[in-house]
Amino acid sequence: DAGFFTYDPGFMATASCHSAITYIDGEQGILLYRGYPIEQLATKASFLEVAYLLFYGELPTKAELAEFERVIMTHTMLNENLKDFLNGFHYDAHPMAILCGVVASLSAFYHDSIDVHDPRYREISAHRLIAKVPTIAAAAYKHNVGEPIMYPRNDLRYGANFLHMMFATPCEHYKPTLLAEKALNLLFILHADHEQNASTSTVRLAGSSGANPFACVAAGVASLWGPAHGGANEAVLDMLTEIGDVANVPKYIEKAKDKDDAFRLMGFGHRVYKNYDPRAKIIREVCHQLLDEMSGTLDNPMFELALKLEEIATNDDYFVERKLYPNVDFYSGIIYSALGIPRNMFTVMFAVARTVGWVSHWMEMMSDPSTRIGRPRQIYHGPAARDYVPISQR
Ligand code: SDX
Repeated sequence: DAGFFTYDPGFMATASCHSAITYIDGEQGILLYRGYPIEQLATKASFLEVAYLLFYGELPTKAELAEFERVIMTHTMLNENLKDFLNGFHYDAHPMAILCGVVASLSAFYHDSIDVHDPRYREISAHRLIAKVPTIAAAAYKHNVGEPIMYPRNDLRYGANFLHMMFATPCEHYKPTLLAEKALNLLFILHADHEQNASTSTVRLAGSSGANPFACVAAGVASLWGPAHGGANEAVLDMLTEIGDVANVPKYIEKAKDKDDAFRLMGFGHRVYKNYDPRAKIIREVCHQLLDEMSGTLDNPMFELALKLEEIATNDDYFVERKLYPNVDFYSGIIYSALGIPRNMFTVMFAVARTVGWVSHWMEMMSDPSTRIGRPRQIYHGPAARDYVPISQR
């Protein structure tokens, strides 16, 4: 019993690990980063301030934050040889394929800091990952659109630098609006960590074997890519495009309920939240304001369609009985689109933010001397022991 939380022994018996980073109450729709409510952090903190909190456990002082920002922004460049690797991908390679491959290759370039038993090297590798993943992400986009990779600008804030690397060209300067930077900051904070989700568990399991942090985070990128996990934000926009019109919503609600139909409402449901995902609530609330100020108009057909879909689904017995509500992926793509980010980059955006959570969990686990290699067990239901049968008798 940690004072305000009373652990359910049954839950603790099944818990895969102990962590002090993020707390979720799925029934109440509560999400805390190191004890701070996501609703407060999302609108009051900067992304690197939240990264510092997740990483070190406390909110930074002004001086600590300035030093953390300085360190992160000095690591944003990639080794120049990585350009050849990046340019080797087919032009239409999915940016998640590029991100997964290039992040895994970082251990071939930054092997001076991959001794996972040295706390200082662990911290350097973690800083490098937080700093370089956005540069790789933007480079993947540039590769897709056939434009030159843009070097990071260390005089810009983290979010503004990312948008610069995405949308500036050697011929044209790009200055993101403060609103676009605010929207990105909010989305990065909301996606930064989420306890033992599939991709974070993947990073922890890989790290428990002593694998280097770059390989562990690449494994997390691979796991996040799935449409049941981080790939859902891209799938939501594909789904809304397929639905096309509010008049078609009832038909798709019925499809989602049909067990013989593989169609699921993307962006709906959650393994832990059996109430509204607090992150979805925040994104939906700021969506209106951001869309209005970004696009100068309230009528964003995708947003209107998403609101209508949510209204119908959350009043339908099938979804109410199963406690299926919008999750973080349901509205995020609409804001990414308004920022000019293409659909195939949505999961990459999730990975950029979640890198902070991944490296925080990896650091927490690797700093614990009692950590042993993860070894999930199974329930075997194959054949009992039997003797070999020569092929002539089969
Ligand atoms: C993320 O773990 C995390 O924290 C993840 C994440 C993070 O920050 O890391 O929060 C990010 O991954 C969010 C989830 C994004 N995925 C999607 O939006 C894909 C659509 N959602 C579903 O695939 C599903 O809801 C999951 C994968 C999210 C959860 O799957 P579960 O745990 O198997 O769902 P469940 O057991 O609670 O389902 C209960 C019932 C089932 O029907 P019955 O067998 O009881 O009749 O609800 C049905 C499911 O078929 N159901 C859905 C549904 N989700 C569940 N039916 C229609 N549409 C859906 N989206």
